[in-house]
Amino acid sequence: MRTKIALLASCLVLTAVPAAASAQDFVGSGVVPSARAHSGERPIGFAASAPASGALVILTGAAQLPTLTGVTLTDAERAAIAAAVAAAKFEGKAGSTLSLRGIGGYSRILLVGTGANPAMLARAEAGGKAAQELMSEAQPVTIAGAFTGGEAADVAYGFALGQYRFDRYKTVDQKAPPADAVTVVGGDSAAARAAFTGRHAPLVDGVRLSRDLANEPANVIYPESFVAEVRKAFAGTANVTIEVLDEAQMRKLNMGSIVGVGQGSPRGSRLMIVRYRGTGSAAAPLAMIGKGITFDSGGISIKPAAGMWDMKADMSGAASVMGAALSLARSRAPVHVVAVAALAENMPDGNAQRPGDIVRTYSGKTIEMLNSDAEGRLVLADANEYVADTYKPRGLVNIATLTGAIVGALDDQYAGLFARDETLAAQLAAAGETSGERLWRMPLNPKYAERMKSDIADIRNIAPSQGPGASLGAHFIGFFVDEKLPWAHLDIAGVNDASGTPLVPKGQSGFGVRLLDQLARDAEVK
Ligand code: BES
Ligand code: MN
Ligand code: ZN
Repeated sequence: MRTKIALLASCLVLTAVPAAASAQDFVGSGVVPSARAHSGERPIGFAASAPASGALVILTGAAQLPTLTGVTLTDAERAAIAAAVAAAKFEGKAGSTLSLRGIGGYSRILLVGTGANPAMLARAEAGGKAAQELMSEAQPVTIAGAFTGGEAADVAYGFALGQYRFDRYKTVDQKAPPADAVTVVGGDSAAARAAFTGRHAPLVDGVRLSRDLANEPANVIYPESFVAEVRKAFAGTANVTIEVLDEAQMRKLNMGSIVGVGQGSPRGSRLMIVRYRGTGSAAAPLAMIGKGITFDSGGISIKPAAGMWDMKADMSGAASVMGAALSLARSRAPVHVVAVAALAENMPDGNAQRPGDIVRTYSGKTIEMLNSDAEGRLVLADANEYVADTYKPRGLVNIATLTGAIVGALDDQYAGLFARDETLAAQLAAAGETSGERLWRMPLNPKYAERMKSDIADIRNIAPSQGPGASLGAHFIGFFVDEKLPWAHLDIAGVNDASGTPLVPKGQSGFGVRLLDQLARDAEVK
């Protein structure tokens, strides 16, 4: 049942300043999230040296300890570490650790392997590993190694990503205590601090925003509250404008496809557009448009019960474009981007759309909607058309937890990359390698497209018999993008739910924030 207020709620706002709380458009049962701060996270600092107490982390790429600056180990302490290293056959391999206690004044000495000649990501991963190993250590932490300032910042970046956890609803056990600071020593600490605060910290803020939004349950994050949380995150950030279309406005604009998806839910759909134009950036923006299904029950084509709870994170694409925009804006990157969240809740209801319904998109194209569980592509169809028409972007990237088929193909190792433009595809693949969020190219074959032809409308949203599901979904989305506009689509259904790695703790990964942040910087027209 939808309320009248839902239809009246109107909030076209063109400012980054948080609007006065808009009328809640349904009677919800949501737990209101408490403060945004994560109590268990350690504040991160840089210093020339640190006291010989607390936990000491030493990063090394070999069995021998590197020359450390900023911490002084006595000969006896060095000898004790060397003996333990030999006994444990620790060789400094990437991902390896050796935990020692009872040496000198330290509560613990943790060796973390980086592998020989570590690159940026290897240093970051060692930092993330350290964060996770020391999660339940109450002591202050010092991280030492043979670093330059920039390298120390990389380690801190990894530590910041790796220490993320979502425990705000734990009230009885396992809640992390407020932790002491971590200090990275060695190298030029002023340079380290500048690199970290200028680039890494904003990026971590973006990843944290995306992970938080995706980890929150669907009784807390629904289209309206997603918008409110993202507004809060951008409050006070320069060069940002925010436009939000509510359901009534979208209906007026003939966006029948996104409206159709949300019409079974009392929570009104939204299209949220955050535009960031950095000083000195190109004229036309790069559009990043994310699927924002705040809960995907499947609708009338309802999903089975087992695992349905994971569909609270079906808005992860939308969360990640907002995270990337936040990172770019907070770091004042000289780029021009438009981050778009196509937000709706997909629910079964007397008012929900039925298989067989025909809907009309913003541009007037018709869709025979055969399966209400193929809803991500439906919200993206209208979003793509509206954004291309309104913002005239020079490129358009979709990111979506679109298909189960991509999970079967690539699991959690790569996101699927579909592209019609070779330059954009190459830029995305390169950004994937740089950021550590890797992509694997998948085919867009015209033969597949034939399977999506409808007998009575322009296109249907599924092929009635089994097929290359991820490619079919990609083709559908691409049908709503002008062939001349460079376009790519990332299917993140597999990489979104992380099993746990140094930079990506278990839970929702925030995949896409680091990738799109990198893409926007690399692909900016100079
Ligand atoms: N949100 C799902 C895809 C998904 C599956 C995301 C598993 C994360 C993990 C999407 O809306 C969906 O239901 N896709 C269907 C499409 C089908 C009906 C053509 C699917 O993949 O089964
Ligand atoms: Mn679905
Ligand atoms: Zn979905």
